[in-house]
Formats: sequence, C-alpha cells, structure tokens
Amino acid sequence: MFFKALRTGHVEKDYWEATYDDSLILLARLPRLAAYIYRRKYHNGEDITPDGMMDWSGNLAHMLGFNDDKFKELMRLYMTIHADHEGGNVSAHTTHLVGSALSDPYLAYAAGMNGLAGPLHGLANQEVIKWIFEMQEKLGTDLPTHDQIENYVRQTLSEGKVVPGYGHAVLRQTDPRYTAQMEFGKKYMREDKLCRTVWKIYEVVPPILESLGKVKNPWPNVDAHSGALLVHFGMKEYEFYTVLFAVSRAMGVLASLIWDRALGLPIERPKSVTTDLVKKWLNGEDEIWGE
Ligand SMILES: CC(C)(COP(=O)(O)OP(=O)(O)OC[C@H]1O[C@@H](n2cnc3c(N)ncnc32)[C@H](O)[C@@H]1OP(=O)(O)O)[C@@H](O)C(=O)NCCC(=O)NCCS
Repeated sequence: MFFKALRTGHVEKDYWEATYDDSLILLARLPRLAAYIYRRKYHNGEDITPDGMMDWSGNLAHMLGFNDDKFKELMRLYMTIHADHEGGNVSAHTTHLVGSALSDPYLAYAAGMNGLAGPLHGLANQEVIKWIFEMQEKLGTDLPTHDQIENYVRQTLSEGKVVPGYGHAVLRQTDPRYTAQMEFGKKYMREDKLCRTVWKIYEVVPPILESLGKVKNPWPNVDAHSGALLVHFGMKEYEFYTVLFAVSRAMGVLASLIWDRALGLPIERPKSVTTDLVKKWLNGEDEIWGE
C-alpha cells in the first residue's frame, strides 16, 4: 500500500494511511507465518489452520500447536511485553531509521528484525536458555546450587563473555518484564526446575556483575526469563524464540512507524564531524557531541 501510495503521487501528509494499512496486513499475517515456520521445521510441516474466533496471541498459540489455556495466557503476556518499551533499542530504532527513508513498512520491519537477531539484543533470549542448558550439562544436574551457579558465571566472565539476560542500555533496575514473567512462573509452575534455576541465577548474578565495577545495570532483563516459561510448556526449540519475539515486536515498531509518517518525521542520519573537530573535542576545546 505504501509503495503504491508513493508511486501514485499521494501527498506526504497522507502517507500514514498507507503505512497503517501495510502494518495491519503485516500484523495479521506474521503470527500465521511464524507458526507455519515452526510447524514446518519442527512438526513435519503439519500446518494448523487459524481460528478466526480467537484473539491475536491465543490464535498464535493455537497455530503453533499448543492448546493448553495456560500457554495461550503466556502468549498474551509474551506478545504484550516484547512489543517494545522505549523506541531506542536496535530493532525499534532500525525500523524507524529505514522507514525514515520512506522505505515501505515491510522493508523497514525486516531491517529492524535483522537487528533483533543480534546476541546483545533479541537473540539474547535464546542465548540465555542455551547457556543454562550448557550449565546443566556441564554440572550434570538440572537444579544447580547457588555455589555451582556462581562458579559457572565466573567462568563465563573469565572467558570474556557477557552473562546473557543481564544488563540493559537504559534500565537501571530489574526489568519489569522480567518480574511479570517471574510472577507468571510463580503462579503456574512454582516447582519447575528450570524456572527455579532462573530465579536462583537472579540471586547470584547481580552482586557478581556489580563487583566488576563497570556494568551499569547488573539486573536481569526480559530475556533472562522467557525461555524457561516456553520450555515448561514443551517449546524447547530455542532457535525459534527470536521469531516469536519478532512477531510481538512488530506491534511496537509498526505503531511507531505509523506515527513517524503521521508526524512527517524527516530522514534520519547521524551527525558527521571532521577529524579536526574530533581532535579539538579530545583536547577539550569543543563539545561537538554535547554532554
Ligand atoms: C544489554 C547490553 C548490550 C547493554 O550494553 P551497554 O549499554 O554497553 O552496558 P554497560 O554500559 O553496562 O556496559 C559496560 C561494561 O559492562 C559490560 N557488561 C554489561 N552487561 C554485562 C553482562 N551481562 N555480563 C558481563 N558484562 C557485561 C559490558 O560488556 C561493558 O564492558 P566493556 O567496557 O569491557 O566493554 C549489555 O548489558 C549486555 O551485553 N547484556 C547481555 C546481553 C543481553 O542480555 N542482551 C539483551 C538486552 S535487553
């Protein structure tokens, strides 16, 4: 729709309408597409027809092949909290940036999802569960003690790796999306060993990260918990998790893209400076990047 609007000479103030139409088409199709990929890759291609009477998240659960009402409830929580929370993260910002060139919403969203696939961003949700599975295997237990977890965390750090699921560029406290998932877990699967491990990690990791003296936020983010909840219901194929994340993120980044066009925001580019200006800045003679 947006592509057509550009070609047929729509005026800029109306671009938001075509962006809105494309966004609704994408939001309607993405759950179906994600579920199709999941069924094709992990369930012999046995595709499940959508149920038009269900809500967006419940229908996604249904098409993925999970009919437990609690899983549907989890999908409602998951789709809500992964949508986007502040607009400056890699996937949200990339969608905004590419859209600012008046690329159509499909291209802008696809670009954003390429960013989501990075391990410091959305892929961290997969890295967390992979890291915990590797810990269980190495230690030979599915319920490690606090000491065992501490040693494993220290080993991860000594290998020059980050502890996945911890830290945030903006937040300086436990991510409320982590807390929402922990509350869900404590309500429905209090005895689940993987969830209990996630909660123990929460007790162990922050003081260790704090002791490094450089980590600005030692607390867990949204990715520290999501995998354990999915595994509980039998979705163990963690390579798929970022696809699920991407379905939810569409809701946030596309809503913002519609606003971008409605407000007529300009094309974006970072500020460029000369080497001379950089030298002056290094010598404290110029504040080119502000404070
Ligand atoms: C999210 C993240 C990318 C934010 O990065 P950031 O804004 O640069 O974070 P900080 O300013 O706190 O980083 C300062 C230092 O602490 C380190 N640090 C931050 N989080 C860390 C973590 N979880 N484990 C180990 N070290 C960490 C950084 O690597 C950096 O080290 P360096 O100066 O040697 O390069 C970072 O916390 C991280 O890599 N977390 C793990 C991956 C993750 O969970 N991503 C999902 C985010 S929602």
